[in-house]
Amino acid sequence: MRVTMIGTGYVGLVSGACFADFGHTVTCVDKDEGKIARLQKGEIPIFEPGLEDLVKDNVEQGRLSFTTDPSAAIRDADAVFIAVGTPSRRGDGHADLTYVYTAAEEIASLMNGYTVVVTKSTVPVGTGDEVEATIKKKRPDAEFAVVSNPEFLREGAAISDFKRPDRVVVGTEEERAREVMRDLYRPLFLNETPIIFTERRTSELIKYAANGFLAMKITFINEIADLCEAVGANVQEVARGIGLDNRIGKKFLNAGPGYGGSCFPKDTLALMKTARDHKAPIELIETTVRVNTARKQKMAQKIIDALGGNVSGKTIAVLGLTFKPNTDDMRDAPALDIVPALQDEGARVRAFDPEGMEEAKHLLKDVAFASGPYDCVQDADAVVFITEWDQFRALDLDRMKKALKAPVVIDLRNIYRPQEMAAKGFRYVSVGRP
Ligand code: UDX
Repeated sequence: MRVTMIGTGYVGLVSGACFADFGHTVTCVDKDEGKIARLQKGEIPIFEPGLEDLVKDNVEQGRLSFTTDPSAAIRDADAVFIAVGTPSRRGDGHADLTYVYTAAEEIASLMNGYTVVVTKSTVPVGTGDEVEATIKKKRPDAEFAVVSNPEFLREGAAISDFKRPDRVVVGTEEERAREVMRDLYRPLFLNETPIIFTERRTSELIKYAANGFLAMKITFINEIADLCEAVGANVQEVARGIGLDNRIGKKFLNAGPGYGGSCFPKDTLALMKTARDHKAPIELIETTVRVNTARKQKMAQKIIDALGGNVSGKTIAVLGLTFKPNTDDMRDAPALDIVPALQDEGARVRAFDPEGMEEAKHLLKDVAFASGPYDCVQDADAVVFITEWDQFRALDLDRMKKALKAPVVIDLRNIYRPQEMAAKGFRYVSVGRP
């Protein structure tokens, strides 16, 4: 099949490379000339494990190419995916669909022969109808179908999530379009991935409901962690105790500083907005958003308390800045709330992150960036773990203690065990554990 992917952000690039790896011929289109020039040279603009090799391999096999000119790519395609950004609109939190509709106009003017137009971007319910109307208006003659096919991949695990998903969701009632989608995902039939064919609006809502639920699950365990701290219980054991119940499930029950990233914050806001607009507000999501925002801000106070209530003039070493490990993405990362709040109280912040520092330099002011974890903690009054990178899991604790001015560790990801840290002589504070 010939596939065109419009947008080479996270979802577009990973989906494009994976479809090519399935054996389809894929052209990725982006307006950003610099980005396309880099991709043509084999440089990957994001940090995602395995992506560079996958792209290189498929380019060499002639199945994957990059261009700024969509004309030939759209004209010849069996399926054109819209995988452009849908950021939160300033002011009301609604998804900004400008790029989606621009792509729809472009597809309309260029498509030729039966074309399946697939929205992979996360879009509010009803967007597929709008895309269809946009295309129809411009090209009443065109033979096409608009399909919703949300993407559930996680940053840092994107390739395996795409190739071994829990499910694929396809929203369309047109049999001919379903056939094209079946062909595209045929390699997944081998590992018996469930493919859910549903109506387009339902498919659009599935994506928001999934992200809303996961954000709520994390927020639930974060609030239970606060209660654990108050009553002297252990949140990890509570999470295990409830997670073994199949109805609840073990995943996404790690308490921490609050969720961030490119999806949960944006999608929960958009879901909230859609629900309000339709006079069916979802209070659980509204609360989730409020509690998570407050939590990120509260984390700075937790650090200040661990340092005896005053951080003025103190140096705080921060290990991990990205919103989670295995990405260089800083979008809505808890560090963006925590670091400035500490600085406002007079602390000096020195930070290290394996992949996120380039991005962090644009987003954080007056932070000294270190070359590694030990360099970061040298002579600091405390060390704070904000992201659970693997390389922070097995630090030489004696070396770290020697380097620190005071042996204070605030572990917002529960990387270490309290008993072990106490035995090493650290003053250790974590999340939801005595
Ligand atoms: C998420 C969804 O998982 C994915 O299906 C969707 O397509 C995009 O949004 P992503 O944002 O890449 O993926 O990261 P994810 O691993 O889900 O983590 C999101 C945030 O939740 C991170 O800040 C992470 O630290 C936090 N989190 C996750 C927790 O605090 N605790 C957990 O148990 C799990």
